[in-house]
Amino acid sequence: MGGVPPALAGARRPRARTAVRTPGVVGYLDSLYASPGDEVILRVSVLDPARRYRAELVRLICGETGPGGPGLKEEPIPSGLAGEHQDGEQPVPIGSYAIVDDLPPLEAVEVSILVWPTLPGRGMQALMALGPVRLVLDDAGAAALVVGAETLSTKEPLRRRTWYRVEARYDPATGSASVRSAPLPGPHMDRVAEADGKLGTGVHATGPLLIAAARGAGGAAQHFNGKIEAPMLRSGSLAAQWDFARGIGSARVEDGSPHGLHGRTVNAPKRAVTGSRWDGSVHDWRSDPAHYGAIHFHADDLYDAAWQPSLRFRLPETLRSGYYAVKLQASGPPFYVGFIVSPKKGAPRAKLAVLASTVTYLAYANYRRRMSPGPSELTMGALPTVDMTDVLLAEHPEFGSSTYDVHRDGFGVGHASARRPLFNMRPTGRFWNFSMDLCLIDWLEAQGVAYDVISEHELQERGVELLTPYRAVLTPSHPEYFSLEMLRALEGYLGAGGRFMYLGGNGFYWRVSFDPGHPGLIELRRAEDGTRAWAEQPGQYYHATGEYGGLWRRIGRPPNALVGIGFIAQGFDASTHYRRTPASRDPRAAFLFADIEEDVIGDFGAWGGGAAGLEIDCYDASLGSPPHALVVASSEGHSNAFLLVNEEMLSNSRGVDGTLNSRIKADIVFFETPTGGAVLSTGSIAFVASLAHENYRNNVSRLLRNALDRFLDSAPFNLPAAQPR
Ligand SMILES: [Fe+2]
Repeated sequence: MGGVPPALAGARRPRARTAVRTPGVVGYLDSLYASPGDEVILRVSVLDPARRYRAELVRLICGETGPGGPGLKEEPIPSGLAGEHQDGEQPVPIGSYAIVDDLPPLEAVEVSILVWPTLPGRGMQALMALGPVRLVLDDAGAAALVVGAETLSTKEPLRRRTWYRVEARYDPATGSASVRSAPLPGPHMDRVAEADGKLGTGVHATGPLLIAAARGAGGAAQHFNGKIEAPMLRSGSLAAQWDFARGIGSARVEDGSPHGLHGRTVNAPKRAVTGSRWDGSVHDWRSDPAHYGAIHFHADDLYDAAWQPSLRFRLPETLRSGYYAVKLQASGPPFYVGFIVSPKKGAPRAKLAVLASTVTYLAYANYRRRMSPGPSELTMGALPTVDMTDVLLAEHPEFGSSTYDVHRDGFGVGHASARRPLFNMRPTGRFWNFSMDLCLIDWLEAQGVAYDVISEHELQERGVELLTPYRAVLTPSHPEYFSLEMLRALEGYLGAGGRFMYLGGNGFYWRVSFDPGHPGLIELRRAEDGTRAWAEQPGQYYHATGEYGGLWRRIGRPPNALVGIGFIAQGFDASTHYRRTPASRDPRAAFLFADIEEDVIGDFGAWGGGAAGLEIDCYDASLGSPPHALVVASSEGHSNAFLLVNEEMLSNSRGVDGTLNSRIKADIVFFETPTGGAVLSTGSIAFVASLAHENYRNNVSRLLRNALDRFLDSAPFNLPAAQPR
């Protein structure tokens, strides 16, 4: 889903009365991947008052610092970046709004707007701001007109999640002013509230026009939380009417009047949301955009931190592909800015590629919910453990949230942006899945197997052509978020004889899309069903990009059809082992079990003591798992913390936990494709964390090495003759 990442067992505890500091410097790169020879732009904010920091490029090999784990392994790489630098603290302009930059001079003004507030009464929130003339919800949540230092309020707070028309007018010549809020017709109508009065004269409304915020000393302020529709402005002969139903899927705000006073949104507020006219008759915004004339703004939306570049450096031409980070160090622990170095276009170096789950890393970035006690502890059966980098995130709401969090008004965060510091792209913290995936890198290094690392973001851009040069492609522990383009590329690779290993759990689960109007941003809607941190609102299951959101399973492309298995359960208390099945004796699977005598596989590991755990997947022919696939091993003995995922159930019942339900198991599945390729899937996030056990000499390691040797051999796999099942 997955779940709440497990407690960070084994993290070192600060000693009492020792001053423990958070990282004194944070930063981000302009891209999550780069290639040798590329120029990389780093943006840094130094929080430490000394304003100095050190930077170096490091190759990341391992981050498994739990008991018995190999520990942190990183290799310093000489680069133009290395050394001590000085920089300031850079502010983060969090909060979305719309802006119309160029307005002609304004005389007496009349404004009108449709409003659906979600947090009325939580501080002053601007609806439309024209310099010193502002239409707002005041501290009490009532519609009010602010002119200079004076305020005219209706004094009747608006109800939350109710549509109102809010109007105001002001004449600077006479000081005459009025403000009014009127609920739109509905079964439970609120009262009309209005106020007329005299305010000061000579205060002139000026552009730019801000919608859902006002200009403050340091940028936009007084952010509004909720939906806004159809803002309108009249002044003298000017009349402008903005129509948010136009430009969905972009940052454009269009004026439907002949004056062409177009604007733009800032910080990616949510579009393709139901508006005042939505009545349940339309669910795809493209079929009748008039029902989707609203934008949902949040004071805690963040698309672009927009920091000034701090350092530019060129990656060495000879740099090998891999997981890398710019390691920033001031006071406190280092802050890692992780990224992928992929081979230069057209210059793959190895037969094997690791497809780094950069989209899932982004979806998990700046995950705050696990720091809230309550649900986290119930899921984990333990107190959450965090480190000082997590504490820094908790202390800085302006770095934005993850797609596992909800906004302050309770609506889910449906965007993730790479244009801000990302607190999970680091080897430390034992927070999956960036850190977890390094277990696979560490194992490949220990095995001496040559590999390239490529990223999902490149897969999105380049399609199957990215994979074609490779004989085998591996995904690490948790490729949960996938776009249609990425799925097509993987299918294309398999269709052309590629060999693919899915070494994780809960993969290919949620649909995401890339927003062409916002580079670096992904969108998702947790629609209909699924194991999920929040639920999308009715009528809003289509992305602003026009794609139908939700589980790939619900959309009709279950992961089972791609990799043979799909999500079945999650639990975070303890992992367990696999047991070989009779199918593991099938000659087709013999290569997998060469030199493995035991029936029990993976009864050890750094995450929960076993290779099968956290989030697990199983074979299901009814969801498209290939009938000829061999289930060569299945996990057993899961605890009652492992519960059947809700998308598996039509109604709730007893018998849905791991001690009672035989379907709750991770399956290791192997199958051949008709074009000489093959797929191996292991169905557990914890799998890769078992590879290092006993110095990499164990049966999980042996199984994977056996598979890899065969998958890298050019001899084609043969599809078995069809057999009745
Ligand atoms: Fe997940």
